[in-house]
Amino acid sequence: MLRYLPLAAMLFASSAFAQEEVALKPGPDLDAVTTSCATCHTLNYIRMNSSFLTLDAWKAEVSKMREAYGAPIDDQTAAAITRYLSANYAAPPKS
Ligand code: HEC
Repeated sequence: MLRYLPLAAMLFASSAFAQEEVALKPGPDLDAVTTSCATCHTLNYIRMNSSFLTLDAWKAEVSKMREAYGAPIDDQTAAAITRYLSANYAAPPKS
């Protein structure tokens, strides 16, 4: 019985990883996000910040990832990412 444990551990690890991959809501620009935003940190950063980042704050966040942290994201991809984030993960603007 014991010799099956490593396999079970591997299966568990890979399914945990797969869940991470599909953790975000589906949408037309999701590909741009999963390709560009998961290289340095988990995509959970997007979910964790969605309750307080507005559209403008997400724009600033994407710029910060590019300018301050050197994320290699071109203008077109950044626009697609911002579109996706504002449609799925933006908090309502504060008045
Ligand atoms: C080049 C590496 C890199 C890439 C690519 C990257 N980030 Fe980040 N991100 C960071 C670093 C570094 C931090 C701050 C340190 C930390 O908390 O890990 C951070 C933090 C964050 C945070 C937490 C709030 C904050 O400002 O600290 C959010 C939200 C975030 N990133 C979103 C994104 C999104 C959306 C993308 C895709 C457009 C992205 N990141 C791509 C490096 C990156």
